[in-house]
Amino acid sequence: MSSENPMESSYTFTHAIVRIPGTNFAEGLTSVDFGIPDYPTVRLQHSAYIAALKTACGLQVTVLPADDSYPDGTFVEDTAIVTPHFAVMTRPGAASRAGEVSAMEDTIRAHFQTVYSITEPGTLDGGDICDAGDTFFIGISHRTNEEGAHQLASILESNGYRAVMVDIRGMKNILHLKSGIAYIGDQRLVMWQDFAEMACFNDYEKIITLPEENYAANCIRINEHILIPADYDHLADQLETRGYSLIPLVMEEFQKMDGGLSCLSLRFFKEP
Ligand code: GLY
Repeated sequence: MSSENPMESSYTFTHAIVRIPGTNFAEGLTSVDFGIPDYPTVRLQHSAYIAALKTACGLQVTVLPADDSYPDGTFVEDTAIVTPHFAVMTRPGAASRAGEVSAMEDTIRAHFQTVYSITEPGTLDGGDICDAGDTFFIGISHRTNEEGAHQLASILESNGYRAVMVDIRGMKNILHLKSGIAYIGDQRLVMWQDFAEMACFNDYEKIITLPEENYAANCIRINEHILIPADYDHLADQLETRGYSLIPLVMEEFQKMDGGLSCLSLRFFKEP
């Protein structure tokens, strides 16, 4: 794979933050009917995720304790946008998740000198933000409103990034923008067919998921690997054909709660 400047790359990471799922994980928000998560299995799948970040990807991982105040709190990605230069505390669109941000803020401030915040009436979930190098795609969804999207765009643009809005409010069966697209470096995006005709993605090679494999579009490039949900063979073949090293992880318990691989961590680069 080609190398990119670590400070500008959207997949070169040294650190990650995760949170152990709470015992009331099954009381979180979900739009799917795949059954009730089994807590011991949730913990096993989460442990395997942490091990992949630490051992295979070489990240320094901050593991926050479970917090039963927020059943969705293990989906830490929604609480902040992290770049090599600064962080942005979000303002989640679901009322039950609003408090997750203050529960994360001290940890973010321990790593970042410059921390912005999305403010009322803006709402924004980190899952709606796709970092593609010098461009950030910002999903306007049922969680991220136009005001929140514009606040983030303004922060990004004042720091030299390009911000592109992607309105997904009319799409079916999608929670966040990154439920349906992932930037994997090398000017490539994994995406649902639904995104393929959008002009904003014309400059990218598009790796299209089969409809029955749409869940796997939420994969994450981390350094020289791509974490991908296990058992999505068509996408795995497409990625391996292009030379990527895959780390398949069983995600069934998180899928029951509308969660994907990216949702489970905040990933960022810090100079050694
Ligand atoms: N359960 C993840 C979310 O709805 O935010």
